[in-house]
Amino acid sequence: MESKTIRISEMKDHVGREVTVKGWLYNSRAGGKVQFLIVRDGSGMCQAVLEKNEDNADLFAEIKHIGQESALTVTGRVREEARSVGGYELALNGVQIVDKTEDYPITPKSHGIDFVMKHRHLHLRSRKPWALARIRHTIIEAIRNFFNDNGFTLVDTPIFAPAAGEETQLLFNVDYFGEEVALSQTGQLYLEAAAMSLGRVYCFGPTFRAEKSKTRRHLTEFWMVEPEIAYIDLDGLLEVAEQFICAIVRAVLTKRKTELEILERDVALLEKIQPPFVRLSYSEVVELLHSDKVKQFMENQLQEKQNQVTELEKNIDQWTEEQKTAKKQWQKDKLAQQIQTANEQMTELQEQIENIPRHAELAADFRWGKDLGGSDETIISQLHERPVFVHRYPKGCKAFYMKPDGADERVVLNFDCLAPQGYGEIIGGSMREENHDALLGRIHEEGLPDEDYQWYLDLRKYGSVPHGGFGLGVERTVAWLTGIKHIRETIAFPRMMGRIYP
Ligand code: 4AD
Ligand code: MG
Repeated sequence: MESKTIRISEMKDHVGREVTVKGWLYNSRAGGKVQFLIVRDGSGMCQAVLEKNEDNADLFAEIKHIGQESALTVTGRVREEARSVGGYELALNGVQIVDKTEDYPITPKSHGIDFVMKHRHLHLRSRKPWALARIRHTIIEAIRNFFNDNGFTLVDTPIFAPAAGEETQLLFNVDYFGEEVALSQTGQLYLEAAAMSLGRVYCFGPTFRAEKSKTRRHLTEFWMVEPEIAYIDLDGLLEVAEQFICAIVRAVLTKRKTELEILERDVALLEKIQPPFVRLSYSEVVELLHSDKVKQFMENQLQEKQNQVTELEKNIDQWTEEQKTAKKQWQKDKLAQQIQTANEQMTELQEQIENIPRHAELAADFRWGKDLGGSDETIISQLHERPVFVHRYPKGCKAFYMKPDGADERVVLNFDCLAPQGYGEIIGGSMREENHDALLGRIHEEGLPDEDYQWYLDLRKYGSVPHGGFGLGVERTVAWLTGIKHIRETIAFPRMMGRIYP
């Protein structure tokens, strides 16, 4: 009888039965009379074990030499095995090699980031990128569910954009039949038109910004989801954003335990993401940046990181000694691996240590009126366990469409949401100027060509109402929830300055 083909994630439902799994060889280990194959099929990993007996000598010899990432289908009986990846394993009685592979470039040992990003088309098969892809998927699913379940209509906004939505200096221009247009930086302006038809709308798509900086937070192509709501005020917007983020975090915590574990994410920190989030005005943030609390915090950070370096140095010394006396090659390899990882951590810590005094100085010298910089955001977000809403920024550092605060015309009714643990801004949003003449004035002040914005101004002529919305960057959200340091790993094929291959 032919055995049933299942995915590895379904093994728990087939204990005691013979099944077939179709996948790739992730890793293998040979003992004298037993061979262990770690097979992955996209849904998970499992160990397949072949015990040598009189009848399977040929098979045993054949699989001894198949290389990592060979495509294969394996057949065997499912049994529970707590020590095995996933908790189940296959007692093999058949292996069919679909495509034999030799010299796969990405081995289970760690490679430098440049190497793996150049081999990203293959790197995607490794554990970490796999876990990240699945968490990203769940985040996107939670985003769609949240808006779909709360009365929002999806509206797809254009990617070819004749006018700037955000900073004009960050536009990517393309030739549109002889006319120069840009790639969209935001769907917001079009979404405002749609909100006047449907009340509550959202768009979700790729956006483009010619960011010339190579930071851990910036891509040139990233995905943004933007809701827009008619008849709302700033407090109402903050509440929606708060509920929205909590829904995303909950979905990831309930559906992606295994993946968070692979990424060694401290989930206790994510479990603290509950309403109410912290709400601080920009002016309060400036005060905070100048305070002794921040000064003290920076000094503690310095101390803490220096202690970590000392600890790492101690470990490296110890492992180097152990290497000399280790008897088995695998022990030596394991130690070498530990030393390499520790060295990488040291380099990173030393970089951070060098930056702390500069960041402390930037915070202390921060002047009211300036936009918050990356390091200021990092400090604010490190000081809190929950996300922080910073609201009411100075008009001068924000976009032309934001509505001034009636109580203080120097500031606008906007907010940024800063994720904790130093992740910084994940959401930017605001109330929109709904008065025709005031908006036209702002367009002129910014030196924008008003003929490009006639349709946008029209919205203020016919049934204009208070409205607002926000944009959440998917990649920054993935980075925060997975605890990875750099945004380049949050998307399958990242686009950033200096990186366009593969
Ligand atoms: O704050 P931003 O520029 O806001 C807007 O575009 C508004 N039009 C949104 C709205 O009100 N409808 O961008 C929103 C978010 C940021 O908070 C950040 O998460 C992400 O988009 N983002 C980036 N992510 C990766 N790389 C970049 N270069 C990004 N620039 C913005
Ligand atoms: Mg912003």
